[in-house]
Amino acid sequence: MNTDQVVQTFTEFFRERGHRLVTGSSLLPPPTDPVLFTTSGMHPLTPYLLGRPHSQGRRLVNVQRCLRTTDLDEVGDPTHLTVFEMLGSWSLGDYGHPESLRMGHELLCDGFGIPQGLLHVTVFDGDDQVGPDLESLRTWQELGVPVERTGDENWWSNGPVGPCGPDSEIFVWTGGSDVPPRGTPTTDPRWVEIWNHVHMRHHRHEDGTLEPLRQPGIDTGMGLERLLTVLQGRGSVYETDLFEPWMRLLPRLWDLDERSLRLVCDHLRSGIVVVGDGVRPSSTGRGHVLRRLIRRLLTTLRRGDPSRTLTDVPVDLVEHTLDHFQQLCGPESVREVLLHEEQRFTRLLERGQRVLSRTEFDRPLTDEDYRCLHDTHGLPRDLVTGLRTPRLSGSLDAG
Ligand code: ALA
Repeated sequence: MNTDQVVQTFTEFFRERGHRLVTGSSLLPPPTDPVLFTTSGMHPLTPYLLGRPHSQGRRLVNVQRCLRTTDLDEVGDPTHLTVFEMLGSWSLGDYGHPESLRMGHELLCDGFGIPQGLLHVTVFDGDDQVGPDLESLRTWQELGVPVERTGDENWWSNGPVGPCGPDSEIFVWTGGSDVPPRGTPTTDPRWVEIWNHVHMRHHRHEDGTLEPLRQPGIDTGMGLERLLTVLQGRGSVYETDLFEPWMRLLPRLWDLDERSLRLVCDHLRSGIVVVGDGVRPSSTGRGHVLRRLIRRLLTTLRRGDPSRTLTDVPVDLVEHTLDHFQQLCGPESVREVLLHEEQRFTRLLERGQRVLSRTEFDRPLTDEDYRCLHDTHGLPRDLVTGLRTPRLSGSLDAG
């Protein structure tokens, strides 16, 4: 199955079971929201999970783009992406956890053809506030899927306060068809988590207390790219059809090692989507996240060959990405933003090199020096550290 077929299979499965397809939101939550970017499919639906009626009813399905900076250091490995898409389904006070798990099992086995023997799940085993999730345990036992009981790993919340609850995660064995599944999700990393089913039945308050929700709901999320990797039998998300144009074009432009190529691909693609959603580089908030992404991208790109530049990026690649995410802005304008930021970073580096080559800085730097370099010359500390220790050039991302 290619990307379109996977998305179609997912949404159709839930539509046939009474769910309305709601349009995914942009990466930008509403202005009143405390977080910078949407990090999960449920995010735009928080008020409805807390009880507000949704105009489309009590069963919903969608595809939501998300951005997570918590995993930034993992980017470059086979599975982590900064911007990714989440396939989600919701019951807003309608059906319960067992029905959600049963539907999930049916879709994975019958819809996507994953052999039942390659599945393993985890369920919440309770803590000092909430008892074990015996309902999910029983459901999986009835379905004949092996279960591991864990603690914190099976509790989901979108932040310190708000709707939360026990979850059940579904893992697929990726050890290869010739290696029978071994161990459990917490003991063998070849079990890869693909789908999380959360039983949203509490509201956590500022003081840490939990209040049962009047209308418990279900929130599920499955990373599209990870699912594609499993279904297409690939070793990494970058080998799926979704990244085909990237992996065809980037290696022709730049000769990078695999991890660097993946990071450049991830950050460039994420940067395009973030700019496509209207963010511009700046020194605060969302703009700062975008600036960091672009600087990390440039630092990695130029390692080994400082002449590499984003000017080489074909506009087709930008267009392809904007089309995929159904973003309406022109590819040329997005490219302009990236090129402008690249020029700014280049000028900053040049200034940094000039200032640091002065004899007064030819010694270990003190906190006072860093303050002066920042306040007088606009040189962030991490950038200075990176320039003085080229080996650490990965740290040039900050500021
Ligand atoms: N909100 C849950 C997650 O992101 C489904 O894992």
